Amino acid sequence: MDDLPTLLSELDTPVFYILGEGSNTVFLEDYRGTVIKPAFMGIDLSHSDTHYRLKVGSGENWHQLVLWCMQHQIYGLENLALIPGTVGAAPIQNIGAYGVEIAQLIERVDYYDLKEKRHKSLGSDGCEFAYRDSVFKKRLADQVVITSVTFAIPKSWKGITYYGELKLLSMPSAMDIFNKVVEVRQNKLPDPAKIGNAGSFFKNPIVCKNLFRQLQQTWPAIPSYLVDADKVKVPAAWLIDQLGFKGEKIGGIGCHPNQALVLTNDGSGTGEQLLQLARDIKAAVLKEFSIVLENEVRLIGKNGPVVL
Ligand code: EPU
Repeated sequence: MDDLPTLLSELDTPVFYILGEGSNTVFLEDYRGTVIKPAFMGIDLSHSDTHYRLKVGSGENWHQLVLWCMQHQIYGLENLALIPGTVGAAPIQNIGAYGVEIAQLIERVDYYDLKEKRHKSLGSDGCEFAYRDSVFKKRLADQVVITSVTFAIPKSWKGITYYGELKLLSMPSAMDIFNKVVEVRQNKLPDPAKIGNAGSFFKNPIVCKNLFRQLQQTWPAIPSYLVDADKVKVPAAWLIDQLGFKGEKIGGIGCHPNQALVLTNDGSGTGEQLLQLARDIKAAVLKEFSIVLENEVRLIGKNGPVVL
């Protein structure tokens, strides 16, 4: 970690991109800059009366951390099983699944600030967590190398089972929840090791209740999750599904037949084809529902981020 400043100052190009395992990034063409992959490892466990405190190196694999916690009877991460990627990437987009967002369990993020050229930390509040969002995607975007994340996990465990298929579980243990999440994800989501994909391609849009009420008149079955008194979140997968995109292909790029929010590459697809299908979907959703979809994955072209 102490070598970071020297290493970064020796880069032969000022253009660089910081990558975890690449599970939420799509390189649309060959990138001209330097790719930096933090490989800080280690899990440091300590206790207080009420919490387990885990300081975890940013290069650790996320799912391996969830497994490690299950093996050490530290429960709370089970809803987030099988999310691809690294621990360091988790706070950037505030990973979430099946009723849990990692923001709820993060105490601190340690990072190297590339602008100020020094190590710094942010507490949970300073991370400005929101749905699939944080300060690391806004004010500090591409300005930090996250070195470790510290989680504070309450010792008093209470299973979270209100989301989707988890509702069917009766008095589950943490291991039951873990197993169910793994089963559901394996059934619905294509394994990136077998078929290229970056999980949900778009974010679930947050819309005002007025628009939602109007949409309900044409689409009475439209699902929603309450965000606050004025807004609801609508599943992008449902919107895309209604428009018949499931199974649609442009060259080697396809809209997954089981989960309309996932775009896949059979290995022969190109960046251009991906952009075309994503833009077709975005345009169709805007036309039919008056909703602007935002990409959830990071799209990187030759010179850096690409706007959809
Ligand atoms: N749905 C459809 N058609 C589909 C798929 C889903 O109509 O093809 C409907 C479902 O019936 C359900 C709703 O859409 O009513 C939501 O579907 P699902 O539970 O599969 O979740 P999602 O909203 O599509 C989000 C996250 C996932 C996370 C799941 C479970 C986002 C962008 N995606 O997906 O995260 O695993 O909830 O919590 O928030 C990821 O970020 O890469 C990711 C996979």
